[in-house]
Amino acid sequence: MAIKCYENLTTEIKKLFKLDTKNTSYVMAVVDEEMFLGHVYYGALLNDYHLGHILRTGEIPFVPSKNNRDRGAFLDTFPMEYPAHGLGDYREDCISIETESGNTGLSLQFVSAEIISGKPALSGLPATFSGNASSDGSVSCGDKEDCSSLEIICEDSSTGLRAALLYTVFEDCDVITRSVRVINGGEKAFYLKRVFSACLDMDNKDFEVVSLHGGWARERQLQRVPVSHGKFSVESLRGESSHQDHPFAALVTKGTGQEQGEVYAMHFVYSGNFKISVQNDQFDQVRMVMGIHPEDFKWQLKPGEEFQAPEAVLVYSGEGLGRMTRTFHDFYRKHLIRGIYKDKKRPILINNWEATYFDFNTEKLIGIAREASRLGIEMLVMDDGWFGKRNNDDCALGDWTVNEEKLPGGLKYLADEINKLGMKFGIWLEPEMISPDSDLYRAHPDWAIAIPGREGTLSRHQYVLDLTREDVLEHTWESISKVLQSANIEYVKWDMNRQLTDIGSAILPAERMGELYHRYVLGVYELQRRLTEQFPNVLLENCSGGGGRFDPGMLYYSPQIWCSDDTDAIERLKIQEGTALIYPLSTMGAHVSDCPNHILGRTVPFETRGHVALSGTFGYELDVTKISGEERDMIPEQTAMYHKYNDLVREGDYYRIASYRENHYFDCCGVVKKDKKEALFTFVQVLGRPNYHSRKICFKGLAPEKYYRIEGEDGVYTGDVLMKAGYLVQNLTGDFKSRLIHIVETEEANG
Ligand code: DGJ
Repeated sequence: MAIKCYENLTTEIKKLFKLDTKNTSYVMAVVDEEMFLGHVYYGALLNDYHLGHILRTGEIPFVPSKNNRDRGAFLDTFPMEYPAHGLGDYREDCISIETESGNTGLSLQFVSAEIISGKPALSGLPATFSGNASSDGSVSCGDKEDCSSLEIICEDSSTGLRAALLYTVFEDCDVITRSVRVINGGEKAFYLKRVFSACLDMDNKDFEVVSLHGGWARERQLQRVPVSHGKFSVESLRGESSHQDHPFAALVTKGTGQEQGEVYAMHFVYSGNFKISVQNDQFDQVRMVMGIHPEDFKWQLKPGEEFQAPEAVLVYSGEGLGRMTRTFHDFYRKHLIRGIYKDKKRPILINNWEATYFDFNTEKLIGIAREASRLGIEMLVMDDGWFGKRNNDDCALGDWTVNEEKLPGGLKYLADEINKLGMKFGIWLEPEMISPDSDLYRAHPDWAIAIPGREGTLSRHQYVLDLTREDVLEHTWESISKVLQSANIEYVKWDMNRQLTDIGSAILPAERMGELYHRYVLGVYELQRRLTEQFPNVLLENCSGGGGRFDPGMLYYSPQIWCSDDTDAIERLKIQEGTALIYPLSTMGAHVSDCPNHILGRTVPFETRGHVALSGTFGYELDVTKISGEERDMIPEQTAMYHKYNDLVREGDYYRIASYRENHYFDCCGVVKKDKKEALFTFVQVLGRPNYHSRKICFKGLAPEKYYRIEGEDGVYTGDVLMKAGYLVQNLTGDFKSRLIHIVETEEANG
């Protein structure tokens, strides 16, 4: 049983909940007459439950029932499972409200707990699920009980607010998920001003915080900083999870590397504003919280109403960041990603964005497709510019009717012609947006998110549609479904090219304006829910000006997400390293593009571009009719390489050997098949070095006792030798050079 409850362990410990996965334990306890819910422990699996002493309840006078005189000191010290605002816990709290009389204080006391088999769905929100999604893409939460849940109800007796804290234990995956539902069980309405989804209170262990920061074309760069007194936060107020910050943070003990050290990671299954805060307090206790960003958030809850906060995924690793990574990869592959492509190879696509930008027509696209199909490419994706009068990015978003001047015969003719070439056809959409220069805006200027009476802030010359409105949402859905019904469209790239500003709505009443950001995200989720349910055979790839909305919320709807507009293979090493820290390689949209690279101006060998894109979904972003014959001739080899290795890349265990981000010279990472019979490592020599010998690489993840050979070479090595003594990669002359190292099990030992 993964969840156990122990009663009356000591006079102070009234109840103790122990949640066990294969290798971890998570422990909470209800203490004192006042029934505070304390956080006792999260970490390596414990074989005993007698650990109430960790709460320091023995340090009398401590708990309020014994020393109410120092209640404030208790509240500001006690490791709370879900800290509430304003009564004495001065650390970052998880929940605060504003009552009709303007008061904000809250105190949550344990009321009851229930163990549930499986995992309940979170209303309106993407979330991890129990069981495997069936191959038709449908998911029924709780249909196969490979997890169990604990719901703890805590209450604030003064307002009647109840917090239902949901914990799900994915025993085999070593993952615990958390979420919170707030219920107004009182008689008066109140505003929810803050509702975080997870909190971890721990004594400081010389922690550092690992997070992912960035910008457009520089998404998810790894950062590591020491935890110091005060607060460190990672946050987005941009209406999306953003290029700039990522809803992920991990506390790691000093010296943590790929294989050693303790890691406490949290990842947020949400695509809007978020905040993660890490605080080291006066007693050297560290609190890490994660949830919807409280700024500009204010949700009215009338008596009987509920608010469901999104889910946080918690992973503990006692074996460094590498173990954390593999835990997230396995978990997301099994319990978050859905649809018919969940476990399948994706078609190799060619996207015309960098090939043509807005300057294309049917003839040009068919020309590209004809050549591409001959080279082994399997799908043509028509990017931005096919609708309305969109010949540049100044106009027409919202006018989702085909531009017949560019595409005579419409989408159907084009899709049919592409299909005749034996290729699939995919399309770009940006459904959440509206250009001021569009028929839609001329008809409905009030459909844009804007502050009435104030000129809206343009970004890429566009506004964001107010998806909190039912009429706008229904119209948007109608437009999407009309497009998808009009031709044989088998792939959608769902883009979002600006962040939210001017938070205002023509119809939301003043008391609900603080709900706009979250309601907007719920609108996006609703549209993507409809798309995935009503068009289950369409492969959806989310995108936001590159990788601005690469988050677990989006991953619930689309099995792959465009990683970055920066397609330069060398910059991609860093972007893909940060992304793969949490996300399976099968999710990372990665393409071979033209050189000099359109963003950086750098020229990288075609072979290296292929090797780097192979660690993602793989595809092309260039005009195959225009590249050199030499490069074109390499494409059939690359597409064959994709087919040869993609099962391994998609399903294997990921290991990072060396990081260009750290050493500035070379990069090496790869995947090992679950049965350890095969592995593929990608080695990139970013900068060549004069007068330098070969580089010794110690692989990881192999079976020490197995014999292996390296494809294309003589010699047999044991896994033990390859991992401890290493393998010599000969110096590759020049910069930006790469090679794949394919390791295959063999029966024979060296002669
Ligand atoms: C941003 C995307 O990341 C690009 O790939 C491309 O689709 C453009 N938008 C089109 O506007």
